[in-house]
Amino acid sequence: QTSSMWGGRFSEATDGFVAEFTASVNFDKRMAKQDIQGSIAHATMLGRCGIITSEESDLIISGLKQVQAEIDAGQFQWSVALEDVHMNVESRLTALIGDVGKKLHTGRSRNDQVATDIRLWLRDETDNILALLKRLQSGLLDLADKHTTTIMPGFTHLQTAQPVSFAHHVMAWFEMLVRDSERFADTRHRINQMPLGSAALAGTTYPIDRTITAELLGFEGICQNSLDAVSDRDFAIEFTANASLLMMHLSRMSEEIILWMSAQFGFVVVPDRFCTGSSIMPQKKNPDVPELVRGKAARVFGQLTTLLTLMKNQPLAYNKDNQEDKEPLFDCVDTITGSLLAFADMLPNLVPNSENMRAATMKGYATATDLADYLVKKGLPFRDAHEVVGKAVALAVQTGVDLSELSLAQLQSFSPLIADDVFDCLTLEGSLQARDHLGGTAPNQVKQAIIRGRQRIS
Ligand code: ARG
Repeated sequence: QTSSMWGGRFSEATDGFVAEFTASVNFDKRMAKQDIQGSIAHATMLGRCGIITSEESDLIISGLKQVQAEIDAGQFQWSVALEDVHMNVESRLTALIGDVGKKLHTGRSRNDQVATDIRLWLRDETDNILALLKRLQSGLLDLADKHTTTIMPGFTHLQTAQPVSFAHHVMAWFEMLVRDSERFADTRHRINQMPLGSAALAGTTYPIDRTITAELLGFEGICQNSLDAVSDRDFAIEFTANASLLMMHLSRMSEEIILWMSAQFGFVVVPDRFCTGSSIMPQKKNPDVPELVRGKAARVFGQLTTLLTLMKNQPLAYNKDNQEDKEPLFDCVDTITGSLLAFADMLPNLVPNSENMRAATMKGYATATDLADYLVKKGLPFRDAHEVVGKAVALAVQTGVDLSELSLAQLQSFSPLIADDVFDCLTLEGSLQARDHLGGTAPNQVKQAIIRGRQRIS
């Protein structure tokens, strides 16, 4: 059977397989709410501009609301033969209100309709994601607040470098998420532009008023070129790029949590409810949630590549290729939404093991830089101080002790500038306190960063 929506010029029915193959309703029905929202605005505009009568407009709008009610109630019969969400909704509308329903598509094409639907849908999802990001950020601030004096090794090359507070580390995660939130908020402006009114590609012959529809739909701008409007998917690519950066961050955090949870590190306990066991090894408690988030980063990066590749060869304007934009975008949204939900619950509930963290910090000569800085303050040039401390570390390694466990005499054998006040700078607390400037790990500075953080997300 040929589609009643476009079958006029066809002399044989669509091949059964082709109908299935070209249909998108099984996934694009997810945008039904936005499709109906867009149609209500379009019908309102058609009425106000006198393109259809206000009675016709009212009838169409009440019919569309009825269709929405059927969908909400789970009573709507989706049909693959009707291809996509747009024609399913329109066909049901006409079944409900009669021939007036056929006037809805006046001055409109599925090309500007679908572009409008995706933008409305992605705008809603962006708001949800921004809210989830905020929840996670606020959880991180709460976690950091409890641990400004919990000392752990800071790493470079995954080798102990200098002491930092656990709060300082958590606040580094917070900063990553601030940039993610800013990116999603910025992209929202470019998502929130209205293609509707561009019709198939060239505009329409009816005296439409796009400002009416834009205002009704809450768009902050109107796409300025009809060819670009129906074919632009930059906003979806941008969103997926933001999502990729977000997942890259969540994946880095995951990697650290997974390492820290191992017996070898023993830095954090992840509550049981976020872990699972092994069916063979009774002792196992595995960090499945962070592992899965690390794994899911891969699919989001893949979706970014999919969308870029989807667009790169398309001549203006709309091509059916664009129907392939939805599944990657939907999956991307589901993946980051799920990952953020899991993290928002899990991260604030991490329990650091401060004894293990401290013991690990003590093992790696983390205060060696502090000793060098001490000598510089006594007048030695930094390069010379570096050399002196290197030798002291070698002795400590040889004798199996920490720098603070060397005797004053031993230390003085490397430099006469060393006096008995040296031991203050060799403590972990002293090392932290000393980095007392904006962005440093001193407890007082991190407290300030947390206070500023609360303002930044409010
Ligand atoms: N299902 C289509 C899509 O997702 C709607 C637009 C179809 N337009 C067309 N001229 N075939 O892109």
